Amino acid sequence: MKTSDIPERIAERFAAADSVAVLTGSGISAESGIETFRGEDGTWSKVNIEEVATPQAFERDPAKVWQWYDYRRTKLKSVEPNPAHYALAAMERHFKHFTLITQNVDNLHRRAGSENIIELHGNIWEVIDTVTGQREFNHEAPFDEIPPHNSRGNLIRPGVVWFGEMLPHGAMESASRAAQTCDVFLVVGTSAVVQPAASLPLFAKRAGAMVLEFTLDYTVISDAVDHTFIGRAGETIPPFLNILSAELTEE
Ligand code: OAD
Repeated sequence: MKTSDIPERIAERFAAADSVAVLTGSGISAESGIETFRGEDGTWSKVNIEEVATPQAFERDPAKVWQWYDYRRTKLKSVEPNPAHYALAAMERHFKHFTLITQNVDNLHRRAGSENIIELHGNIWEVIDTVTGQREFNHEAPFDEIPPHNSRGNLIRPGVVWFGEMLPHGAMESASRAAQTCDVFLVVGTSAVVQPAASLPLFAKRAGAMVLEFTLDYTVISDAVDHTFIGRAGETIPPFLNILSAELTEE
């Protein structure tokens, strides 16, 4: 997609925004080589949610859950952010307010340089001490021992949000505030079916923002947004950064 393919009214409103919020999902990392969750080849067609992504699964069989996270962590060590991550990181510097809300746990936004990030589902490089509840970063992958223990000898768990768990304290509140006060809301690479994240674009729309969606396939929110750009995020997001760079050159 070229910058000139963006409808003019959309480009103008985007360039004039003071405040931008973005919601990303696994689709933005697909071009980095990370699998998305739904669809024919998605993670949830191969792995059972009840066996790897619930607190009950961890209680029942921490080794099985850790095998899966250890595999994902090890894989992440060899992947890089892609042009969509980099374009969003560069955009942050152009707006007075910019909030990047992500459902991804892969840390690729931070690695690309984004700063104001809300990680709704946690971060795969964080671990939680199951005895003390203390959270810390841990970059070991693969682990020597599965399930892993920390230096205190306590079993640790991945610092991500599993099905049936609460989001990190304050995360949804901050994300809702950003959605309800932004001028433009971008939804990138998410099927928008997992709550409460899926409500954010609708909060933004209801509060008057222009909502733009970037996806490979139409989603359940496509009818409600202002425009859906079909294509790979690595090709549809950078043209939006170009709008801003062009503005700077003109000034
Ligand atoms: P999904 O797998 O549900 O949706 C991925 C979306 O990305 C789809 O709409 C695809 O069309 C789109 N997509 C794929 N490749 C793309 C690309 N290159 N560029 C743009 N879009 C692309 O994944 P999520 O919406 O992220 O939660 O799933 C949300 C949550 O469900 C995840 O955070 C995870 C999962 O269960 C937990 O584990 C708690």
